[in-house]
Amino acid sequence: MRSDTTGFWTPVALSADIPSGTVIPAHVSAGTIALWRSQAGQIAASADRCPHRGMSLSHGFVRGEALSCIYHGWSYGMSGHCVRIPAHPSLTPPETIRVVTHAVRDTSGVVWVAEGTPASDPLSLDGLTPLRSLTVEADRAAIEAAAGVPANADGLIEIARDGEDLCLLLSGSQQSQTGVRTVVHVLVATGSQAPQRIAASRNVERLRRMAETTSAEGNVP
Ligand code: FES
Repeated sequence: MRSDTTGFWTPVALSADIPSGTVIPAHVSAGTIALWRSQAGQIAASADRCPHRGMSLSHGFVRGEALSCIYHGWSYGMSGHCVRIPAHPSLTPPETIRVVTHAVRDTSGVVWVAEGTPASDPLSLDGLTPLRSLTVEADRAAIEAAAGVPANADGLIEIARDGEDLCLLLSGSQQSQTGVRTVVHVLVATGSQAPQRIAASRNVERLRRMAETTSAEGNVP
């Protein structure tokens, strides 16, 4: 996803997978983050560590326009500042209590998180519609081998299967307990009908099995 030398955008999730009032864990190259959407529909990305005692904020909950920690209930606004400490309801939390936040964009049905300071906008996905995301227990090289083509500089793989175009948008790979895993966002041509969408989903499942087999057998080129 590198777009320049000072930063890049990572596609961490599909917009539809984060309804208003929810928080999920997402992954960037630096590790896990808490990705959340306020009740009003604003998207935000925070470090996945509560400044109080280190609880994962992705295990927390969204109330109104704030993300609350599941442990002692400290709440953080969109900009990361602490807005409420339940044990001290009359206290205005000092400005110094805040969680690290990341720039985030919700565009073309994909949520992108900035790593560093990108000088340009996230990749334009005109003519494409997100279908689904899936996690592949393999690195990018194994996915590229299964697809038969390398990803371009933006991490996009474009292939044709069953006469239909299929696009895979690769997120960064992370180390997991069982090896390396990569989140793949699947995109189809805008206007695709149910049969094409079902076929695309089946094709990407096949591709996942191939990549995971390749990875498990250590045959990655
Ligand atoms: S650890 Fe988060 S509020 Fe205490």
